[in-house]
Amino acid sequence: QPIYLADYTPPNWLIDDVHLTFRLAPNATRVVSRIAFRPNPDTASRDFFLHGEALTLIDARIDQKPVTPDLVEGGLRCSVPDAPFIWECEVEIDPANNTALEGLYMSSGMYCTQCEAEGFRKITYYPDRPDVMATFTVRIEGDMPVMLSNGNPVSQGPGFAEWHDPWPKPAYLFALVAGDLVNHPGQFTTRSGREVELNIWVRPGDEGKCAFAMEALKKSMTWDEDVYGCEYDLDIFNIVAVDDFNMGAMENKGLNIFNSSCVLASPETSTDANFERIEAIIAHEYFHNWTGNRITCRDWFQLCLKEGLTVYRDAEFTSDMRSAPVKRISDVIALRARQFREDNGPLAHPVRPESFVEINNFYTATIYEKGAEVIGMLKRLVGDDAYAEAVRLYFNRHDGQACTIEDWLSAFQDVTGRDLTQFKRWYSQAGTPRLKVTEDFKDGTYTLHFEQHTPATPGQPQKAPQVIPIAVGLLGPNGHEVMETTVLEMTEARQSFSFEGLTARPVPSILRDFSAPVILERATDNAERAFLLAHDTDPFNKWEAGRALARDGLIAQIREGAAPDAAYLDAIHAMARDDSLDPAFRALALGLPSQDDLAQTLADLGTTPDPQTIWEALETLRQARAQHCQDLATRLHAQFQVTDPYRPDAEQSGARALANAALGMISRLDGGAQAQRQYDAADNMTQQLAALSCLLQSGTGAEAVQRFYDQWRHDRLVIDKWFTLQIVHADPQDAAATAARLTAHPDFDMKNPNRFRATLGALAANPAGFHHASGAGYELLAEWLIRLDPVNPQTTARMCSAFETWKRYDAARQDMIAGQLDRILDTPGLSRDTTEMVSRIRGA
Ligand code: ARG
Ligand code: ZN
Repeated sequence: QPIYLADYTPPNWLIDDVHLTFRLAPNATRVVSRIAFRPNPDTASRDFFLHGEALTLIDARIDQKPVTPDLVEGGLRCSVPDAPFIWECEVEIDPANNTALEGLYMSSGMYCTQCEAEGFRKITYYPDRPDVMATFTVRIEGDMPVMLSNGNPVSQGPGFAEWHDPWPKPAYLFALVAGDLVNHPGQFTTRSGREVELNIWVRPGDEGKCAFAMEALKKSMTWDEDVYGCEYDLDIFNIVAVDDFNMGAMENKGLNIFNSSCVLASPETSTDANFERIEAIIAHEYFHNWTGNRITCRDWFQLCLKEGLTVYRDAEFTSDMRSAPVKRISDVIALRARQFREDNGPLAHPVRPESFVEINNFYTATIYEKGAEVIGMLKRLVGDDAYAEAVRLYFNRHDGQACTIEDWLSAFQDVTGRDLTQFKRWYSQAGTPRLKVTEDFKDGTYTLHFEQHTPATPGQPQKAPQVIPIAVGLLGPNGHEVMETTVLEMTEARQSFSFEGLTARPVPSILRDFSAPVILERATDNAERAFLLAHDTDPFNKWEAGRALARDGLIAQIREGAAPDAAYLDAIHAMARDDSLDPAFRALALGLPSQDDLAQTLADLGTTPDPQTIWEALETLRQARAQHCQDLATRLHAQFQVTDPYRPDAEQSGARALANAALGMISRLDGGAQAQRQYDAADNMTQQLAALSCLLQSGTGAEAVQRFYDQWRHDRLVIDKWFTLQIVHADPQDAAATAARLTAHPDFDMKNPNRFRATLGALAANPAGFHHASGAGYELLAEWLIRLDPVNPQTTARMCSAFETWKRYDAARQDMIAGQLDRILDTPGLSRDTTEMVSRIRGA
């Protein structure tokens, strides 16, 4: 039952325009459609099939004459004229019982929709595929005070509202919202003078948490005009916050719908990290108006065409608004944690997959984040000017069309004259390339020898060499740069590059700015890493040197029982006290490799990772570091207290991040006394939550946990944090029990995806706890996935990835996980989503 990219055929019928009327009722909403179909001149078949799921057909007519369609699996068929005709249809749906949160559903008393990828077929019968684009006119009848759809408002009165979207779009961009909502208004004038009304719609009580998102929206609109020449194209832009939402947000034309956690913000309830994420997601959804909506995808295999590009664009935006190095380092941390992990396991798939069972399972780190890396590599290879020109050509050529990766690459080939055939392998080959480096130095010539190899992934035993842009700089022995960043273009399996005229053997800084999503393998020593941490001019590689130093020391602790590495402790102390460095950078450099990173590194080295040992090694290192940096931590914590009124900008959040990293060290020595003072005095969530984490960490958090709950029990988003924190900071042997206890808390609600993730997702985010030898973590997660599956298959399926690393563990753990995976698979009526995920993870 998989669908294949190779089987793509164009639609037999095209649509000129669509009229929809909704008569809203919680359990019996009527949807009346009137659709003008015409034959596609490019196809011969006149077979007429419309997608439809969970619909009750009330009436169907063709050119006003009643017809009786064949209701078939997944939709209906009907005999139709061999000429343009009008399809009219009425169906009934049940939004109040739609817990899958796909199609039209209800959340806290409001109606809302999520159609991407294939949810529109749960609203009415339709060719629910992205290459069928049409203009929509929507009439909503009901008693809700606010009733919204895509496009511009046409008219409204008591009990109805009408909307018209003049831009042809696929059904996945359709949206409808109706509820008792209040708006935070704004205004934007585009550079060609269009006055745009902006609104953020929220439930009453949340209106005080919209100002930040509104500013982010205006900044995004300006940035897209300035940097990409993209202007907004309707008279109104609406954003709605919804509590129950499977993903982060959705770019519906003119009516973006957001998970409330990705839009609502206030200093008291949101952390600096929340603010930054909200700004990025507002930008992401807004940028989709061009990269996704005006130019959309021909089919779902092309998902990275809009997602990779839009993630790349939102990263550029964040780099411009905040600190580019900090953004890059954070993105690489996330890429390695999620995408490398995916690429290395049973769920590995290409940036453009060639088959899928359920497309919702492919909204992955590979498609989004690796997809964005591929755009970044392309830009680095062709240069900024050619990139800008190619994007402009792509926009001009394909505005209003549903496109493919080939269309995108053609624009680059046409502008640059470059043959991108080999580059295209980044779209078709799964797996993370390993890049081995050796070097030699003779007679003033320094040579780097590279060898690339991509391990086999499911369905792809053999890999061909990729085009790898390798940004390299060279440093002299005194720490001065002797060669600025140069981009080497590797295309062969093995390739060498020489640099002449050097007076001494240089220290190389390879893969600057993380110029390609590969794993660099190079034998080097602590001294060189400490040297790069001190002297590299490239912020990413400076950070990377510290990270590698920490990682190697931890690996030695784990494998050889070594003591914490003195070279690391000295180097990190020198870095942290260097006041010429950005505090945000220092805070990042004080981070340590995650338990999951270390587990993978060990597996790559042929050592079966033991989660408990990894956890203990990190604890030991943190304790040693706290002692080593004792005075410095006290100094930093005091020095970086922010006294100005709270601002969530890069500067203040960098200061808070460094002060809180220092607090983490202090708490390991003072039993939480300083953290308690910070908790008591905190007037913003960043400070409060950091202090609470430290208290939990030092085992003195019980009282603060209770006070936190009493203070925030009426704020769902804050209570999500409360659930998560207790589980991620639980000791490994208590984590499953803590999660289990919290699933019994009256505020636990499995129907709310945020709450479910805050609880069961948090368990998976505590690796030593989740993988505890008792197997209690596995069992608890499996149990809840089985319970959630009939309610919300999409969220269930996504969370199965907690098991994706199972093959790296010992036989006892593998047996327990296999048992749980089989238990899930054996569940009667298991959804297609979860069945696909679990079977792929379980493997052959
Ligand atoms: N297009 C949305 C975004 O990237 C994500 C929607 C995902 N929806 C889904 N059902 N998988 O912002
Ligand atoms: Zn997106």
